[in-house]
Amino acid sequence: MLQATMLPPMRKRQKRTEGAEGPSFGVEVKFPEVRLYLVEKKMGATRRGFLAQLARAKGFLVEDILSDQVTHVVSEQNQAPGLWAWLRGRGLKNLSAVHVLDISWFTDSMKEGRPVALEARHRIQDILPEASPHPPMVELSRYACKRRTSTENHNEIFTDAFEVLAESYEFSQCDSQCLAFRRAASVLKSVPCPLQHVGAAASLPCLGGHTRAVMQEILQYGQSCEVEKILCNDRYQMLKLFTSVFGVGPKTAEKWYRGGLRTLKDALEDPSIELNSMQKAGFLHHKDISQSVSRAEAMALGDILHETALGISAHAVLVLTGGFRRGKAFGHDVDFLLSTPEKGKEEILLLSLVDSLRRQGILLYCDHHTSTFDINNMPGVSFEAMDHFAKSFLILRLYDSQVEGGLQRVEGQDDGRSWRAVRVDVVTPPMERYAFALLGWTGSRQFERDLRRFARKENRMLLDNHGLWDNTKVLLTAPPHPAQTDGSSPLVLLG
Ligand code: UTP
Ligand code: MN
Repeated sequence: MLQATMLPPMRKRQKRTEGAEGPSFGVEVKFPEVRLYLVEKKMGATRRGFLAQLARAKGFLVEDILSDQVTHVVSEQNQAPGLWAWLRGRGLKNLSAVHVLDISWFTDSMKEGRPVALEARHRIQDILPEASPHPPMVELSRYACKRRTSTENHNEIFTDAFEVLAESYEFSQCDSQCLAFRRAASVLKSVPCPLQHVGAAASLPCLGGHTRAVMQEILQYGQSCEVEKILCNDRYQMLKLFTSVFGVGPKTAEKWYRGGLRTLKDALEDPSIELNSMQKAGFLHHKDISQSVSRAEAMALGDILHETALGISAHAVLVLTGGFRRGKAFGHDVDFLLSTPEKGKEEILLLSLVDSLRRQGILLYCDHHTSTFDINNMPGVSFEAMDHFAKSFLILRLYDSQVEGGLQRVEGQDDGRSWRAVRVDVVTPPMERYAFALLGWTGSRQFERDLRRFARKENRMLLDNHGLWDNTKVLLTAPPHPAQTDGSSPLVLLG
């Protein structure tokens, strides 16, 4: 019963399309050449969701995000000038090739159960003959959670540079500078077109003098002197190399660097270094797990875990989360949420799952964190800390034959193996905490950080992976605490 109201669990070997999982997951796509996008303005989120579901059930592809993949934009009750101005501001590469249509085309197509032929009456005509070469800069919020961001980054030349600077500050434990560059990168990822001059960034939030100077240099010379210096810096390179090993954080990397280590081999051979089991596994599978994971590989792992979980409990619910849930094509690991409506049985389900993976011979490493979740201790003091749900950090073996299209080929790495190692995280919240855990594990990190900041500063509420509280510390949706004698009642769950 409960399962039916959640995101659909993963199923085995079904036709799927990148970026179109979620509600359409598992439904056969009948018209792959048509990719719909429903404009939420005027239509409203509820009706949009309903229409999207209807179309998906009829085999249409409906994109949640407006990207260059969309072929048909459907709008209801929007005036042509406003709609077209909005579409131009989205930074699409070839807007003129997109069919911009009235809801009547959608309704006719739903009636027919197929995309009906386009007629003049269906089209919403552009009143300007040509699209402006410089789309107007959209106003962006200071909060990442209030910005629309697609997976397409039009300003990679700047954001890559900011990432190097952020990482370098992170290695030096300069947290505020590190965060400033991560914030700036996040803002630029929301800009729907390439920035051609620093003036165009004048109205953007979170860009300080330092970030603007770096941008100016890149625009003028194609690179930033400061960034180039960091990239050539021995310490930066070494810390980057050491932290690329699973289980090695910035502090350990710094210690190794100070101790004179310069290669991974040095670290392995130094008798004074005692590696913990996570680091041992990290070294053993370093090549494999430093290579990105493709969406097809993530889906294959989803199939394996889902089948294994269902073999343990028919009520098991498994959902892909993290970067892949946001539509990313590649990730550094694969994140899953596992739960069950059977109260208090989540952790045992996870332990059984790990055990079964071990028996199948595909478990290469497991670091299990037992649940420390106690609703009576909520909300916790440290909001950036790891959540309290039971979770396992795994390394799994994935075979070529299990992946649609096979494993990714890595140049210069043909050792004849038919498998690769992949990092997988599985977290098991109790079902009544599932929504908050899903929200928290979907990311991105900046989105989550700003969502919490937004809740705290704008709504005087506390949000984390376990729940949402108002500042009087009353748990939303939970029954009144026995100690609650002041007559105040719990608030209603948001969204
Ligand atoms: P990841 O580090 O896996 O990031 O954490 P990602 O967005 O999926 O990116 P790649 O592709 O793997 O590099 C996923 C989300 O889970 C949250 C993080 O905040 C992040 O947004 N998370 C991670 C937690 O809430 N708690 C944790 O203990 C770990
Ligand atoms: Mn991830």
